[in-house]
Amino acid sequence: MLALAFGTLLLISSVLADPSISPSVQHEKRFHLPPGWAHVRRHELNSVLPLRFGLAQSNIHKLESFLNDVSHPESPNYGNHWSPAKVAETFAPSGESIRVVKDWLVGSGIDPGRLRLSPTKNWIKVNATVEEAERLLQTEYNVYSHDDTGTEHIACDAYHLPAHVSPHVELVTPSIHFDARLHKRGPAFSGPRERIGEPGVGLGPKFTGKISTLLTELENCDKQITPACLRALYGVLYTPLAANKNSYGIVEYTPQAFLQSDLDMFNKNFSKSLVGKSPKLVAIDGAVVQTNQTGFDFNGESNLDLQYGMNLVTSKQEVTLYQVGDLPQGASFNNLLDALDGSFCSFEGGDDPLNDGIYPDPLDGGFKGNPDCGIVKPANVISTSYGYNEPDLSPAYTARQCAEYAKLGLMGVTVLYSSGDNGVAGNGGLCQNPDGSQSRNGKIFNPGFPGGCPFITSVGATQVNPGAKVTDPEGACEQVIFSGGGWSNYFAIPEYQKTAVGRYLKDFPPPYPPSIWNSTGVSRAFPDLSANGANYVIAVAGEFGLVFGTSASSPVVGAILTLINDARLAIGKKPIGFINPTIYSPSFADGFHDIVMGGNRGCGTPGFNSTPGWDPVTGLGTPNFPKLLAKWLLLP
Ligand SMILES: *[C@@H]1O[C@H](CO)[C@@H](O)[C@H](O)[C@H]1NC(C)=O
Ligand SMILES: *[C@@H]1O[C@H](CO)[C@@H](O)[C@H](O)[C@H]1NC(C)=O
Ligand SMILES: *[C@@H]1O[C@H](CO)[C@@H](O)[C@H](O)[C@H]1NC(C)=O
Ligand SMILES: *[C@@H]1O[C@H](CO)[C@@H](O)[C@H](O)[C@H]1NC(C)=O
Repeated sequence: MLALAFGTLLLISSVLADPSISPSVQHEKRFHLPPGWAHVRRHELNSVLPLRFGLAQSNIHKLESFLNDVSHPESPNYGNHWSPAKVAETFAPSGESIRVVKDWLVGSGIDPGRLRLSPTKNWIKVNATVEEAERLLQTEYNVYSHDDTGTEHIACDAYHLPAHVSPHVELVTPSIHFDARLHKRGPAFSGPRERIGEPGVGLGPKFTGKISTLLTELENCDKQITPACLRALYGVLYTPLAANKNSYGIVEYTPQAFLQSDLDMFNKNFSKSLVGKSPKLVAIDGAVVQTNQTGFDFNGESNLDLQYGMNLVTSKQEVTLYQVGDLPQGASFNNLLDALDGSFCSFEGGDDPLNDGIYPDPLDGGFKGNPDCGIVKPANVISTSYGYNEPDLSPAYTARQCAEYAKLGLMGVTVLYSSGDNGVAGNGGLCQNPDGSQSRNGKIFNPGFPGGCPFITSVGATQVNPGAKVTDPEGACEQVIFSGGGWSNYFAIPEYQKTAVGRYLKDFPPPYPPSIWNSTGVSRAFPDLSANGANYVIAVAGEFGLVFGTSASSPVVGAILTLINDARLAIGKKPIGFINPTIYSPSFADGFHDIVMGGNRGCGTPGFNSTPGWDPVTGLGTPNFPKLLAKWLLLP
């Protein structure tokens, strides 16, 4: 560290002589080695590294204001969504960024003939020796090896850029990122972490067992939730009028898959007109709706999402299934986003093999094609019931992905994510430790991602309280699962929720020390709203059973918003797009059933409480469909 400080002083003194040199600033730093990796040796100084400088997106600091401009109900541009071309053009790196980075490299002794600009103008590349790279980035490259696979990887702990260059660079590779391809060894897939669609990773709805009798009367909604219960709870009586102009997308990650026989079994009892109907499949990156492995672990999530999503929008509205990832490798959110936005896949070098699928897939039986890139126009509403814990991912990775959700919002897409099922703890009941690691006995609240991204809509879970009627106020879900909620440690609070969250913090200050939650008041809080997540009847593997989770809440809210889009499209209006600035606006306050009972236990605490107004358990509350419909029909 001393040496670095000394280097900085030297650089400052040379600023006078050369205006292209400025004090250096730390650009990225990694705090931990990812699990499974060990240091082997210092890298050889004369080895060659394929250095790549990912250039900063133009106008990215204006993202929130651009998004507000088309999404805030009081904005004169409400609903004037952008074309994909306008999105691509607005955020492409500027000529200035290209020039500043090139000038710095050339000024540092790299011959201009060695530099290459990628065709999409997002990357500057140079083959540099380790010695050159260490000098440019004021760092040290080391070789690491993976315990399971023996794969070697080159990385550094932190790197620096001159202060005038840093704002023009998103990231440099190879650097702190452990983006190594781990190849299959032996029979079990020894991937870097469990795939997002893999059973047994603490995701997906919770199953409490088979049921032999369906209780279809509305007085039993505290024991079994059926589509009729949800229609009664939220006042959802609506027949689509503009289905051919509308779209609703539900996302599933391979190997999760629906079974047609289960959809038919469900629909025989709950919606005869849907019997024999399937969602419209969009298969991304060689995806298959696999049928070799069945049972709750493989079919629970997809069956739940599709049985309720398709039922609530009725047989008149087609539902699109975005099935993502091939069988051997699977995929993650970036792979879906690549398929939805062509400018995303070609930007900043794309996906991180630690978390995302990388195609062509070298694994046996893997998808050998190029990754799908901008292949479909995104649906108007997209619901996803999968998620990470925030510390599973680096801030840079989450920032890049979160910005992409804002771009979908600019294009008029509503993006919903379930908020998690472990209250203030993360997936698998994991909480954080003071050193940033996660464990079951951790004490620090563990927010989810993308729940903490301010540009998605996060959906929490409620319940019909035991013994209560369907007309009684619901409480936060406290059976089997607890609604994910709290404060992000990565993302700042967006403008739209400052008043609501500020009021909660003032009127109901949580009784916890700032060491276990982000009490700063300046970070993004979630969820945004909620819907029932307890006692859902689903058909799975040929039997009816009960499931619990925000996994259920998200597709239900998605269906309700799809019906609102239908009503707007039928009278020539635009889809509702990114809804957060609207739902937090004062005129929408009575569009929700405020939830004031129950908490979201976790990390050895009772969690936060549901209170009047917004709260970090159930957000603004559950949808009141007739009121929301009337309000959204009044907007331009
Ligand atoms: C770096 O070297 C590799 C291998 O020789 C070559 O394929 C690649 O084009 C080079 N890249 C640049 C930017 O010169
Ligand atoms: C489903 O509906 C049929 C006919 O309406 C009924 O006979 C059957 O018992 C129902 N299934 C269950 C599990 O209740
Ligand atoms: C099922 O398994 C067989 C044999 O392993 C494989 O060839 C096939 O691709 C699989 N199909 C699906 C849909 O999972
Ligand atoms: C709390 O959140 C803010 C904003 O996202 C962040 O800057 C800060 O580092 C977080 N605090 C902790 C202790 O992580």
